[in-house]
Amino acid sequence: MTDNDKDRPWPQAGRERLIYPSPVGWKGTDFVDNEAELLKLLNPKTVFMMGDNPALPRMPERPRLLEFFRHRFGDITVRHLLVSAKRALDDGLPEKVVLACLLHDISNGCLIRADHGYWSAQLIAPYVDPEVAFAVKYHQALRYVADESVGYAYPDSYHKFFGADYQVPEYLLRDAEYARGHEWYMTARAVTLYDTYFFDDFPVVEPEELEGVIARNFREPEEGLGFDGSPTAHMWRTMIWPNNFL
Ligand SMILES: [Fe+2]
Ligand SMILES: [Fe+2]
Repeated sequence: MTDNDKDRPWPQAGRERLIYPSPVGWKGTDFVDNEAELLKLLNPKTVFMMGDNPALPRMPERPRLLEFFRHRFGDITVRHLLVSAKRALDDGLPEKVVLACLLHDISNGCLIRADHGYWSAQLIAPYVDPEVAFAVKYHQALRYVADESVGYAYPDSYHKFFGADYQVPEYLLRDAEYARGHEWYMTARAVTLYDTYFFDDFPVVEPEELEGVIARNFREPEEGLGFDGSPTAHMWRTMIWPNNFL
């Protein structure tokens, strides 16, 4: 954060800024869609929010990866990703695996949970080795498929999350099968081996502990994530300004 970032004025000053959250995830819930009511509130003193929301930590104008961890992602996702990566690092795994562990659920941080492996892989693809993006994409499907040869069993937690009778959808079984025959299978499989949720006994991991791995393996764009014109820049911008009306 530079002084310039601290002094930057908040946008749309002097007016009430209405927030209309993104619709993905409303259907089938008791969320009340109030778009029509909000539209009626518009007047010269009231606008739909665009740009920085002062209720959120301010992001620098050229945000880097760890700034999203610190200022945007939910606590459980941050802890989960940091612990996964640190355990892989402590076990001496290759840095590609450590980075894949650090990023494997990144879309859950503050973008989208459904099909998170696919979203996460796409989000990071312009900035990482293709093997890392592959591991992130396929960890989602491989989590459902045991591999006794490496000591990976279907997670007990999934019985709790989804019920003992949950049927894994065909597309995930198909993609897991594809991953299993791929030369990078063990990279994706390693992510599933470090993908543990019950980590209360693990010491707190500070994001800085992964800085070296990130510096060597994640291409931070000079313009900042969200502003480099990459095919996924819009996804990073959505996390910077999650409350933009459009
Ligand atoms: Fe995951
Ligand atoms: Fe995970």
